[in-house]
Amino acid sequence: MRHYYIAGNWKMHKSRSEAAELARALVSQLKDGKHKYLAAPSFTSLETVGAILKGTNILLGAQNMAAEEQGAHTGEVSVLQLKDLGVQAVILGHSERRHTYKEDDALINRKVRLALQHGLEVILCVGELLEEREAGKAEAVCEAQTVKGLEGVAKESLARITIAYEPVWAIGTGKTATPEDADAIHAHIRRVVGRLYGADAAAALIIQYGGSVKPDNAAQLMAKENIDGALVGGAALKADTFVPIAKFG
Ligand code: 13P
Repeated sequence: MRHYYIAGNWKMHKSRSEAAELARALVSQLKDGKHKYLAAPSFTSLETVGAILKGTNILLGAQNMAAEEQGAHTGEVSVLQLKDLGVQAVILGHSERRHTYKEDDALINRKVRLALQHGLEVILCVGELLEEREAGKAEAVCEAQTVKGLEGVAKESLARITIAYEPVWAIGTGKTATPEDADAIHAHIRRVVGRLYGADAAAALIIQYGGSVKPDNAAQLMAKENIDGALVGGAALKADTFVPIAKFG
């Protein structure tokens, strides 16, 4: 009943013309793709990329948004502005937001609820630091981030949420979690969601893995029972590396 969902997080890369070139290549090379796809360019390229993705099988995603609808929030971008650009989904709680920009679970939860209230899909990222994994706390950290991130989210909205498990030590490092280790955390997240929302909601939940996903490891990860897709960083910056992940297998 679950479908695979492969998303590219372009982070703070690419001018508008570079972003347009990549978006055009993805549209042409993924038009026969069988899974769900998303591209999340920087805010500055959303309009350009949105025009290229419109009407295709690739969703337009943003990498973050403010926790308020509008107002005196210098430097922030609101959900209304994202919707105005045709954004369909937003990545929230990315580890770079949590750790470099000190976003906490309460703030991320406000963003999740606001995005859902405005009809956006959400990719909610969770994941442990290396020292947390080494201390045997990976499951507990991911559980707490999941529970707090979903606080106040109604069961009817859960279908618009994807969880992305991104162990912080695997992001941009070339170190991938083994498929077994990733699957164990995904299974735990699914148990947690089952406890909160019931077995049917847990069974339907899409859980992506992120952290050094490459063309040569995507199929092994995706073969695991609880891994339903990928949130890809570095390898999403080129069609040559993203397309084979998006068409894994
Ligand atoms: P990398 O694929 O570069 O490790 O990045 C993963 C990520 O943070 C996607 O959001």
